[in-house]
Amino acid sequence: MFNKICIIGVGLIGGSIARAARAQGLCDHIVAFGRQKSLKNLQLAKSLGVVDEYYVDIELAVKDADCIIITTPVGVIEHVFRQLKPFWNEQAIYTDAGSTKGSVIAAAQAVFSEVPANFVPAHPIAGAEKSGVEAAQDELFNNKRLIVTPVKLTSPQALDKIIAFWKRIGSQVSTMDVEHHDAVLAATSHLPHILAFSLVDLLGKRDEQVEIFKYAASGFKDFTRIASSDPTMWLDICMANKKEIIPLIQQLQTELGKIEQMLVGNESQQLFETFTYAKQARQRFLNQFDNHMSQSITFNVQPGGSMRGEIRVPGDKSMSHRSIMLGSLAEGVTHVTGFLNAEDALATLQAFRAMGVEIEGPVNGEVTIHGVGKHGLKEPKEPLYLGNSGTSMRLLSGLLAGQTFNSVLTGDESLSSRPMKRVTNPLATMGAKIKTQEGGTAPLHIIGNSHLKGIDYTMPMASAQVKSCLLLAGMYADGETTVTEPAPTRDHTERMLNGFSYPVNREGDKASINSNGTLQAADIDVPSDISSAAFFLVGASIAPDSDVTLKHVGINPTRTGIIDILRLMGANIEIINERTVGGEPVADLRVVSSQLKGIDIPEELVPLAIDEFPVLFVAAACAEGQTRLTGAAELRVKECDRIQVMADGLQILGVDAQSTEDGMVVQGKTSDSIGGGEVFSHGDHRIAMSFSIAGLRATAPITIHDCENVNTSFPEFRDLATQLGLQLT
Ligand code: S3P
Repeated sequence: MFNKICIIGVGLIGGSIARAARAQGLCDHIVAFGRQKSLKNLQLAKSLGVVDEYYVDIELAVKDADCIIITTPVGVIEHVFRQLKPFWNEQAIYTDAGSTKGSVIAAAQAVFSEVPANFVPAHPIAGAEKSGVEAAQDELFNNKRLIVTPVKLTSPQALDKIIAFWKRIGSQVSTMDVEHHDAVLAATSHLPHILAFSLVDLLGKRDEQVEIFKYAASGFKDFTRIASSDPTMWLDICMANKKEIIPLIQQLQTELGKIEQMLVGNESQQLFETFTYAKQARQRFLNQFDNHMSQSITFNVQPGGSMRGEIRVPGDKSMSHRSIMLGSLAEGVTHVTGFLNAEDALATLQAFRAMGVEIEGPVNGEVTIHGVGKHGLKEPKEPLYLGNSGTSMRLLSGLLAGQTFNSVLTGDESLSSRPMKRVTNPLATMGAKIKTQEGGTAPLHIIGNSHLKGIDYTMPMASAQVKSCLLLAGMYADGETTVTEPAPTRDHTERMLNGFSYPVNREGDKASINSNGTLQAADIDVPSDISSAAFFLVGASIAPDSDVTLKHVGINPTRTGIIDILRLMGANIEIINERTVGGEPVADLRVVSSQLKGIDIPEELVPLAIDEFPVLFVAAACAEGQTRLTGAAELRVKECDRIQVMADGLQILGVDAQSTEDGMVVQGKTSDSIGGGEVFSHGDHRIAMSFSIAGLRATAPITIHDCENVNTSFPEFRDLATQLGLQLT
């Protein structure tokens, strides 16, 4: 991109730019300019190989340079412009890395009267605890933000080139105007630095300072990390941007004053709400950050191997959601053990915190919920973001339709495209007022204070989410709400409601509820999720020489379709040590390898194994003969179209898998069933894990893209799968 780059002021930032430009091959020659006083630093930069040459004479330094980058503290930039002025080259591009932009623009105007067109103001948002050229690293800007703040006169060509340069060294580039930049940075960077400096200053001056630093917990270390930044640089930044910083300090003082008053007045609920709001806001920020900045995760699976060992997979997702919902509405304190610490269940947990429920944990699967009673939820201040979780959105839509306040439910791209009419239509018949997007998708705007009345509803599809949604709404409706299901679906809502002493009447295919009940806190022991265990039930069945025991798995008969189907295919699964824990049947499952055979999957088993079909298709690919699935159109509206995405992926791996409207036909092979290749999970956790399991019978490596959503249900998947013998990186 450039022949010669000249760095003016080569420290951590200037040195890292030089190293990154060299690593990416963006220029032939890099030199540094500095004052006589910093000769040692310049020599160090050269001896470390950061720059090729250095100068203390600016004329020599910038001679023939086509890119000049000013990385001095912002306080001396005006002086640097004055030194550069006699040698200013219209053909070169000038840029800087100052943290305040108003002061840099003012400096340019003071020296040149107008900001030169070939000067592009820029600010990389990257730093490190260490400063100085010795800390320079070529990866410093990788995946970090870089803000350019062009002014009216800035040349578009120069701007484009500087943007391209930063992108090449890994930055995510945004454009802002100067004032906006300084206001945003004052709040997000300058104020936090002042806080860190002042807290360490305050505590460090105490007599017992040795004690404080000795026992400083990680909170102190985390919070004050930025107080290790370079004082000269921060002095300059704070002075340069004080116009924006001073009002923020005043606001912060008011905020601290409020907290002081809450403590003085023992206003614990208000304090809790303040902390909860802050926690939520931070989570939203992290979610946005993840969406914008996260790299996608790719799984690489080496072919072959067997699975052996004994493990306990994480807690059941359906029960984890419901434990938070019902625990929150209960009177008293609910203790949950075995809670699934994964994104979907945490989305529900966060939503209830945002509605004023105090929830501790999860720590080692333990969660304590301080129930607020059936009518104790508070209006959330922000939309409730439910990530990828369909269960959260559908169940909450029913529960919130019965509240006195308004609420908004949002989710990620996948959740925002899933059908919600299946819940909003029957809820509307009950009298609920819910606005959806055109096509019946989220965000859902739920209007409170609607007078709900019970209905007698026969579901057009077998869905536990729809059933649960209506039962939860029925707790707030006049009269009886009855839901009839066309085929049995998971009944955790009904069981858990009973566990919380709320009457639900069940008769055959009907479940009925009314508003004459209260929920009493109960302790919940969530068993391992059979839907997570399913990957290893299939893995150990198809991989030769395997023997796996899965401990403490929930075997509620509305969930064991996977065991029934695999057994019909000839799998060797033993159910050991059956027991009942908190109203739910639990057992250990032992599975050893066997030659599976293709079958026609009985349709009545479909709802009982609804989440396990992606991995069952893998089992079918390794079975002898043909496997045919029908009556499973619901799979097309899960986290992705699981019929199409699995058929596409299996075909890439050389399997004859033909999708049909409501299922799939797979021609299994006994040897060399699955080839290698690159497949896409479309952000669906269960697809990602299923193709990983396929590796056990593959003849070449399998690469699976977009696996980050494995964290929605089973963050420990990779660790447990590799512990059992899968070669997954
Ligand atoms: C669930 C019900 C099922 C299932 C989902 C969890 C639940 O969805 O696929 O993963 O917890 O109620 P449907 O009700 O849409 O079948």
